[in-house]
Formats: sequence, structure tokens, C-alpha cells
Amino acid sequence: MTQLKVAVVGVGHLGQHHARIAYESPQADLVAVVDPDEKRGSLIADKYSARWVSDWSAIADEVNVLQIAAPTIHHHRLGIEAIKLDKHILMEKPLASNLEESQLLYAAHEQSLTSSTSLVRAVGHLERFNPVVGALRDKKFIPRFLETVRVSPFPMRSIEVDVVLDVMIHDLDLIRALVGRPIIDVEAFGIPVLTKQADLVNARIKFEGGTVAILTASRVAQKKERTLRVFGHQSYAKLNFAEQTMELLTLVKGDTGFKIKNENISIQECEPLKIEIEQFYRACLGLEGEYVSWAEGYEALKVADLVQRAVQKSLSEIEST
Ligand SMILES: NC(=O)c1ccc[n+]([C@@H]2O[C@H](COP(=O)([O-])OP(=O)(O)OC[C@H]3O[C@@H](n4cnc5c(N)ncnc54)[C@H](O)[C@@H]3O)[C@@H](O)[C@H]2O)c1
Repeated sequence: MTQLKVAVVGVGHLGQHHARIAYESPQADLVAVVDPDEKRGSLIADKYSARWVSDWSAIADEVNVLQIAAPTIHHHRLGIEAIKLDKHILMEKPLASNLEESQLLYAAHEQSLTSSTSLVRAVGHLERFNPVVGALRDKKFIPRFLETVRVSPFPMRSIEVDVVLDVMIHDLDLIRALVGRPIIDVEAFGIPVLTKQADLVNARIKFEGGTVAILTASRVAQKKERTLRVFGHQSYAKLNFAEQTMELLTLVKGDTGFKIKNENISIQECEPLKIEIEQFYRACLGLEGEYVSWAEGYEALKVADLVQRAVQKSLSEIEST
């Protein structure tokens, strides 16, 4: 099989897993890891038999895939440079650290397509590849009301962006994909607790057609929770992303009238990041492979921006009272 030549850019908490998966994949050859931190870069490079470089200019000619897992504040600049190099790119989520940067990055990508249309540009919204989401889709569930909770203790990482871009962005992308209708209204409340940016946010999003989603994201919780509760017509599903479980309750007709059927849907556990990367590789190789496009990453940023504006408005209201 033809192998892709891969460099992983940024091998911190998440990038190390990109490197491991690239190293283990039969579709890829991990050529290098790129990280300005020599100690960290060399450690991960040695572990996965790759070269460490501090800057990708040294290996740009040797690779055709860049997986960027550097801090979000660098996504825009690295993305623009990677586009100029004509590479397949998997950019970690969020696509960039604000709406303007995302717009510029997406525009640069669109322009580049005229000369290199076969290049894949994906964004790492890995929850789409969580098997619980596949199980929900298999049930042809039509959501009328959704409630997401994504909370964790303070991470000490990714605090250069607020909790909307760091954490809630997963759910913003997911609910957009599940509902599939335009957003018509966004309300939100959020507060900084341990950083200068919002660490805790609650948002209410209304879609055309009347579906509503309520999202809570926090990085100042005591325990980790990553769940989605979805209500549809005579049905309710509870998804646990971390434990990869799904409970489905449906109203069914029995011999003595209607009753609630409660099912624990059987789900084959897997690593969503691995599925996401393997699918991305397939797409790069011209095979059938699913990925979340930069267009979708940009759309998620547009919703995140609406949430952030609503949070700012609510904060200014608190401050002025
Ligand atoms: N998809 C997910 O579920 C998920 C989970 C965690 C993080 N992320 C995303 O991954 C990215 C990295 O997050 P993290 O938690 O791994 O951060 P981290 O701080 O643990 O690691 C970042 C690494 O990038 C390196 N780096 C810094 N500047 C760089 C540059 N210019 N070029 C290359 N490398 C550089 C750092 O030295 C560090 O090793 C963020 O965008 C974050 O949003 C996604």
C-alpha cells in the first residue's frame, strides 16, 4: 500500500497521540515530529522512531501530510504556511482562535483549491467519530431538544482560549451536524473563574424549525462529565462520550397499552481519534474516508463567536449593575 509521509506538528498532550497513531498506521510513515520544545519533541520522536525538528522547513520536502496539534493561537499562522506548502492538513480543533482568523484561513484554503483540488483539509472535531454518535445516527433519531454537558477539573492547558473554543466547540460542531438546520438565535451566560476568559459557559441555541439545544461547558468542575441527552418524538437518548454508552428510551405499544422500552445500546468501544485519523488518511489516499472539512470547522467557529458575543453581553450587564 502507498504510504503517506506524515509530520505531526506540536507533540504535547494531544499531539503525542497523533504521533502514536501515525506510527502504528499501515497507511502512514511518521517521518518527523515538529516541536520548538527540544526535550518534548525528542522524547516523542524517539518513542515513535521519527526525527525531531524544531521547525518544519527542514522536512517540508519529505512529507505530504501535516497534522497540526500546536496550541490554538498558532493554528492560523501554521495553517497559512501549510497551505502554501501544498500539503494535506489535519488541523486540531478549533480551526483557529477567533472568527477573523478562521475566515482568513478558510479563504486561503479556498483559493489554494484552484491549483490543488485533491488536497484534504480536515479539522479535528473527533467527537463526530465517537461510536456513540454513530449509534444515535443509526437509530435515525430526529432531535427536538438537546442538552450537552462537557465539564472537567481545571486542565492547566489550552487556557490561552476560553472554554467555548477549548471545550464547547466539540458540542457546537456536533449539534450543528445532528440538527442540520440553520441557527436562528443564541443566548449565553458565562464567567471567568480562574482565568481572565470565560471558564464556565451555558448557552441556549435555537434552530430553524424550533429545535433547541442547551449546552454547558466548564473547566472548573470537580468531576469530568461528557454527555449528550437528546429528546425526539416519543424517544429519549442519553449518550456518554467518555464511557461510550448509549441508553435509549422509546414509547412502544404493548399488549396492555403503551409502555416505555429501555435499551442499553450495544456499542463497540474504539478510540475516536484513531478512527478520525485513519479516515483522514483514507481520504488523503483518494479512498472513501470521512472527515470534518474546514468549511464545517469555520461554521463551528461562527457559532462559537455568537456564543462568545452573548457571554460578553451578559458579563457587561453584570458589571454595569
Ligand atoms: N480534539 C480534541 O479532543 C483535543 C484535545 C486536546 C487538545 N486539542 C487541541 O490540540 C491543540 C494542542 O493542545 P494540547 O492540549 O496538546 O496542548 P499542549 O500545550 O499540551 O501541547 C502543545 C505542544 O505544541 C508545541 N508547540 C508550541 N508552539 C508550537 C509551534 N509553533 N509549532 C509546533 N509546535 C508548537 C508545544 O511545545 C507543545 O509540545 C489545541 O489546539 C487544542 O485545542 C484537541
